[in-house]
Formats: sequence, structure tokens, C-alpha cells
Amino acid sequence: MITLKDIKENNRFSALIDRANKCMEAIGYTEHGIRHCSYVSAISREILVQLEYPERIQELAAIAGYIHDIGNSVNRKNHGPNGACLAFPVLMEIGMDMDEISMITSAIGNHEEETGSVVNEVAAALIIADKSDAHRTRVRRGKYNPEDIHDRVNYAIRKSKVVVDTDNKVIQFSIEMDSTSSIMEFMQIYMSRMIMCEKAARYLECEFQLVANGQPINNQPVIDGSKLDEESA
Ligand SMILES: [Fe+2]
Ligand SMILES: [Fe+2]
Repeated sequence: MITLKDIKENNRFSALIDRANKCMEAIGYTEHGIRHCSYVSAISREILVQLEYPERIQELAAIAGYIHDIGNSVNRKNHGPNGACLAFPVLMEIGMDMDEISMITSAIGNHEEETGSVVNEVAAALIIADKSDAHRTRVRRGKYNPEDIHDRVNYAIRKSKVVVDTDNKVIQFSIEMDSTSSIMEFMQIYMSRMIMCEKAARYLECEFQLVANGQPINNQPVIDGSKLDEESA
């Protein structure tokens, strides 16, 4: 069976990741190379490990995470669906099972907030992993532009972490920001991504919690009314 190791050793995927990262650099975007792909791969897997999904599903999430942004080598716009179409023939060529390929391509094709939806557990894990990669290391060396809100926000984030609390069914994303930017600016560019993470967590039967500088930022709506019953009792 195809594993993440096979994907990492595949020259075609390496070339696509490299091209995608170069294209993002050319249009002034933050780092989208091996570091980002490896982070998203590891966190996608870890979320499903913690939630005890089958091992093979964990592996598919790690693979999807590693190649999720190759569509940026075509165009930033629609890079999810484009990436899925690029991945398809390469995964076919290396002999992956069609059901597994379609699981991966559906996750890649749905990871962006403009056109994506939480279509399965691999997509859900990938969305949370991708949107949580906010950190100062994503600002390209020597390219920090204080006029750019994405650079300011990423540069301000000194620490970021995703923790799965399996007992309470909570996926917590916490960030620590310095005064280079502000939580207000973070929300300005991350609002739709955080809402997508809420949907993804709900698909995994968890609550998504965003914590910035120790402060809870979002509050999930009461879905079944049981919390209200507890409070009024
Ligand atoms: Fe992306
Ligand atoms: Fe990404």
C-alpha cells in the first residue's frame, strides 16, 4: 500500500510542491513549501490518531496534507480543485487504489474556504491542520513587509498549537501573538478559515476552540440544548 514515505520520495510531487511554493513567493504569499506541507501532513494525521480513526485513514490524511497545495503551481485561485486534478494521475500511476485516491482528491479539492466543504474525515482533518499553520516562520526570510497584513499577523504569532482533547471532544487551536499585529487583525484575515475549522471539527464530532493570548475567541452555538437544560437545572 502507498504510504506518505512513497509520496515524499516521488519526484513528481516534489517538483509540484517546489513549483507551487515558487509561484506563491512570486505573488508575495507566505511560505508554502516543504515546511508547510510537512506540518499540515503531520497535524492532519495527528488529529485522526487522537480521535482513533482507522490507521489507513490516518495515512490518507497524512498524504493529502503533504500534497494539498500543489494546485498553487497552476493558479492561487481554485488551487484546491486544481491540485486534486494534478494529484489524480500521479496517484494512479503509482498504483494507488481508486477509492483511496478519490478520498485524497476530495480532501484536496475541498480544503479552501472559497469553494470547499467538509466532505469527509480526511477533508476535516486537512482543513484544521492547514488553517492552523499560522506562525512567524511562514514569513519568508528577508521578505517581511510591514504593510502586508498577512505578514504582520504571521510575524506576530510566536507560538501556535493544535491540541485534541479526546475526553471533552474539543480541538483547540491556540496562538500567542506579540504586538507586531493584533487579535483584531488576525480575525480580519482568519475569520472565514476559523468558521471552516468549526465546521470541520463538528464533522469529527468535536468542538473547535480558538484561543488567542489565553483568551477564548469563539463560542460554539448550543446544538442540542442540553447545556441550557444543565444551566437552568
Ligand atoms: Fe491551500
Ligand atoms: Fe496550505
